Amino acid sequence: MDSLKTKIIEIVKRLYGVEVPVEFSAVPADIDGDYSCNVAMRLAKAAGKAPREIAAEIIAELPSEYSYAVAGPGFINITVSGQALFGQLKEAWNEDYGYNDSGAGRIAVSEFPSTNMAKPYSVGHLRPGTQGWAAKRILEANGWKVITDNHLGDAGTPFGIWATGFKLSGLDIDTVTIYDLGEIYIKMKTDMKAEEAAGKHELADAAQDWLLRLEAGEAEAVELSERFNKISLDHIHSVMKRMNLSTDYELGESFFVERGKALVQKYLNEGVFVKNPDGSVICPLDEFGIEVPMLMLKSNGAALYATTDLGCLDYRLHEWKADRLVYAVGAEQKFYFEQLFAVAKKLGWKAELQHVWFGTIDQVGPDGKREKMSSRKGVVLLEAMLDDAEKRVRENFSDAELSDEDVRKISTGAIKYSDFIGDRKTGILYDPAKIFALTGQSGPFCQYACVRMRRILEKNADFAGAEFGDYDFAAEKAVLQKLLDFPALVAGVADNLEAHRIAGYCFELAQEMNRYYENAPISTAEDSVRAARLWLVEKAAAVLERGLDLLGVEIPEKM
Ligand code: ARG
Repeated sequence: MDSLKTKIIEIVKRLYGVEVPVEFSAVPADIDGDYSCNVAMRLAKAAGKAPREIAAEIIAELPSEYSYAVAGPGFINITVSGQALFGQLKEAWNEDYGYNDSGAGRIAVSEFPSTNMAKPYSVGHLRPGTQGWAAKRILEANGWKVITDNHLGDAGTPFGIWATGFKLSGLDIDTVTIYDLGEIYIKMKTDMKAEEAAGKHELADAAQDWLLRLEAGEAEAVELSERFNKISLDHIHSVMKRMNLSTDYELGESFFVERGKALVQKYLNEGVFVKNPDGSVICPLDEFGIEVPMLMLKSNGAALYATTDLGCLDYRLHEWKADRLVYAVGAEQKFYFEQLFAVAKKLGWKAELQHVWFGTIDQVGPDGKREKMSSRKGVVLLEAMLDDAEKRVRENFSDAELSDEDVRKISTGAIKYSDFIGDRKTGILYDPAKIFALTGQSGPFCQYACVRMRRILEKNADFAGAEFGDYDFAAEKAVLQKLLDFPALVAGVADNLEAHRIAGYCFELAQEMNRYYENAPISTAEDSVRAARLWLVEKAAAVLERGLDLLGVEIPEKM
C-alpha cells in the first residue's frame, strides 16, 4: 500500500498545494473496504472545502486497480481486489524479486567483524559481524558491488607482549592455544602495569626487544610471530565459519602502517596536518565544528590506530575505487569515526563514509539490572555463547532429531536475528528465553515459518505450476499486500542500513502466513484453489527466505 500512499501525497500536493502525511487505518469489519484514509478531513480547512467533496476529488485521480468510496464525514475507504494484487505480484515477480539496481554496480566496502588478534573472539565482536554482513547483503540487494574486509587488529605491540609472556610461561609452541595466548596477553598487561607503577620496565623492554627482533627479521621472532598469527587466524576463521561469515580480504591494521605514515608525512609537508612541539602530528578539524583535532601520529613517530585507518581509507578509495565505505563498529567509536571522516573531507576525498554503529550486548545481571554482557572471568567468548546456544536448541527441539548443521543454523539464526529486533543504535538484551523461543519475534519463529512453507510445497509438489483460472485471491489479500511491500522495503533501507526493518518485516510476513493457513486450507482445497494457494506459498517462501538471507539467517532443513 506504500505506493498508493505516495500516490495520494502526490495528488494532494498537485490539487491543493500542500504536503500532508497519509496514513491508512483498518476498516471495521461491518463496513465495506480494507483501508480507510482521513486525509480529506485534514485538508478541509486549508482547501476551504467540505471533506466529502475533497475525498471525491482525490478519488477521481486514483489508480483503478483498487475501488474507493467516500464514507462518513469524509473518509476515503479503499477496497483492494485480491485479483488486482495477484496481478501486480505476478507482473513484478522474477528471479530477483525484491532486489533493485539503484547501486548501479558502484563499489561499496563493508568492513566487519574487525576482530583483534591477541585475544579469543569475544561477544564484543558479534554485532560487528552480524551488522556488517547484513550491510553487505542489503547493499548487494540494492545493486552495489560489495567488497568485504576484515580489518584485523594486528598492529602495534601485541606481538612483543605475546612473545615475552610466552617465553615466561614455559608453554610449548606446538600445543599453545588461542586461549593460552589470550591469558598470556591479559596477564602481561597486568604485570606491565604493576611494573610501571613500581618504576620498572623489564617486561616492557623485553616486549620492545622482541618487536625489534621481528623487524630485523630474526628467525626465532619471525617463527613465533607466524605461529601466533596462525593460531589467532585459525581461531577467528573457525568462529566465523560457525557464524557463516566470511570476508573477501583481511588486510588488518598492520597492512596500512607504512601507507598511513607516508600520507601523514605528505599532508604535513603540504601544511594540512600540523606538528606539535612534542613531535606528534595532528589534523585540526575546527572547520567541521570538531574542536578536538585528530591525532595522526605519535610523538615518537610510531603509527596510531588513526594512522592505519588513514592509510586504509586511502587504499579503499583509491586502490579499490570504492564509492562508499561502511564500517560496522560499536557506538564507543562514534567520535573517532566522526573525526576520521572529517579528515577525509578535509583532504578532499570524495566518497560516502558511513559508520554503521550499534549499542552493546547486555544481559540481566545478578541484581536484576541490565548490564554489559560479561562472565565471572571477564569477557564472554563467542564460542561459549555458540556452544550454549546449541545446547538450548537441542533441548528446545529435541523431538525434531536435528542434524548438527541444522542445530548450527538454528542457534546462529536465533543469535543473529536477535541482533536485528530493535534499531541497531540501541543495545540488545541477550535474553535466551526469548531468543530461542518458537513463539514471539525470534529467529526460530521466522525459520520455522520457512520450513513449514517448504514442507507444504513438498507435500503438494504435484500441484506446483498447475493452472488456477480466475481464482479471486480474496483470502490471500493480506499476504499479497505484504509481499508487494518487499521491494520498497529493501530499497528503503539502502541508505541507513536499518536491517531491523527487514527483521520486522520477516516476522510480520511469518505471522501473516500463520493467519493465512487458518483461513485458507491448502491440501484439502479443490484443485484450482489448491494450485493458486501453492503459487502464493511459493512466493511467500521465497520472499521470507530472501529477507532472512539479508540478515544472514540460514534456513534449516527441518526443526
Ligand atoms: N579492531 C577494532 C576494535 O575491535 C575495530 C576496528 C574498526 N575498524 C576500523 N577501520 N577502525 O575495536
